[in-house]
Amino acid sequence: MLRTLSANSDLHGKRVIVRCDLNVPLESGKVTDDGRIRASLPTIKKLRDSGAKVIVISHLGRPEGAPDEKYSLLPVAKRLSELLGEEVAFASDTVGASAKDKIASAQPGSVTLLENLRFNQGEASKDSSEREVFAKQLADHGDLLVSDGFGVVHRKQASVYELAKLLPSYAGELISTELKVLERLTINPERPYTVVLGGSKVSDKLGVIENLLPKVNKLLIGGGMVFTFLAAMGYKVGKSLLEQDQIEKVKGFVSRAKELGVELVLPKDIVVADKFAADARFETVPSSGIEASSFGQDAVGLDIGPIASSDFAQAILVSRTVFWNGPMGVFEFESFANGTREVARALSETKGFSVVGGGDSAAAVRQLGFSENAFDHISTGGGASLEFLEGKSLPGLEVLND
Ligand code: 3PG
Ligand code: MG
Repeated sequence: MLRTLSANSDLHGKRVIVRCDLNVPLESGKVTDDGRIRASLPTIKKLRDSGAKVIVISHLGRPEGAPDEKYSLLPVAKRLSELLGEEVAFASDTVGASAKDKIASAQPGSVTLLENLRFNQGEASKDSSEREVFAKQLADHGDLLVSDGFGVVHRKQASVYELAKLLPSYAGELISTELKVLERLTINPERPYTVVLGGSKVSDKLGVIENLLPKVNKLLIGGGMVFTFLAAMGYKVGKSLLEQDQIEKVKGFVSRAKELGVELVLPKDIVVADKFAADARFETVPSSGIEASSFGQDAVGLDIGPIASSDFAQAILVSRTVFWNGPMGVFEFESFANGTREVARALSETKGFSVVGGGDSAAAVRQLGFSENAFDHISTGGGASLEFLEGKSLPGLEVLND
């Protein structure tokens, strides 16, 4: 059982460290998608309202253990201030003079954000003793830890794992919500249960396919990874993404699906282009005829076709549970956004329980203009939710379990 703060704990004046995942996309110093910041608000507000001195910590991007202005959390502090409707104090370091100073002068009910944790070598070090040293320095800042960075619970990093062992630690609201959803996808899901997988690499999804195959009724495959499936069926895929070394594995999935009575649905048609570009020439062909397109062996598949989009949408609409991870095509280019848009639309319209995995699919939903409220849940963790669905143990959750 995950440890959570009991409703009657007295936090007034306590220094509460909150590990969030505020790793959001930035462009010219502005947050372009604040989904993860908004998802972190319930915990932050609750602690603030209980009179705690709230100290928020997070990583952003992958700086290499040293300060790097492009990965500063300062723009996040600004956005967080706007969303909270009050000034968030910002420390320009994590365990240095600025952080100590800001925390020493923090008032009950205030919120302070420290600079990017990954500016310190110890945060993401492979060496556990280095992580422990950094975690101890962080632990000095607080009386207790609320761990709420769901998107990063699959990482064994100082603030996610070691820190939670050093302080009394509890799961926050976001982690609790995300877990409830994931449990609904894995423990007695309402049927029919459909999983839609896309994204570029099949090698990233092997674990999740393996673990979910025995649980689902339908598995729909799109995105770059579909070409390895098509190649496994004996089709030629031109210059489309292909992981040759995974073909045998994929053949295994195809026969396993048959044995289990799972409907594994591959797209009947594909949008192929002459190159990977927004202004590429393109046409739709049957999946078995990619090289018979006018681009011949140079054809590169960039989206599922309209027949496939409508087949996928139909399957989603009649399902009682749907989980989707990974775009169906290169949705960043309008000509190749249709498959992803139709899948997103079907998830937004189905009466079934609809869950969008994090990462690219969450970004796609927002970029394509869907209302977040149309889905039952949009996860804040791409890698984390996939690893959970693979059945892996996640270090950041393990450490919060009694
Ligand atoms: C993410 O965006 O995937 C999480 O914030 C974790 O970041 P990471 O993949 O750089 O560890
Ligand atoms: Mg990631």
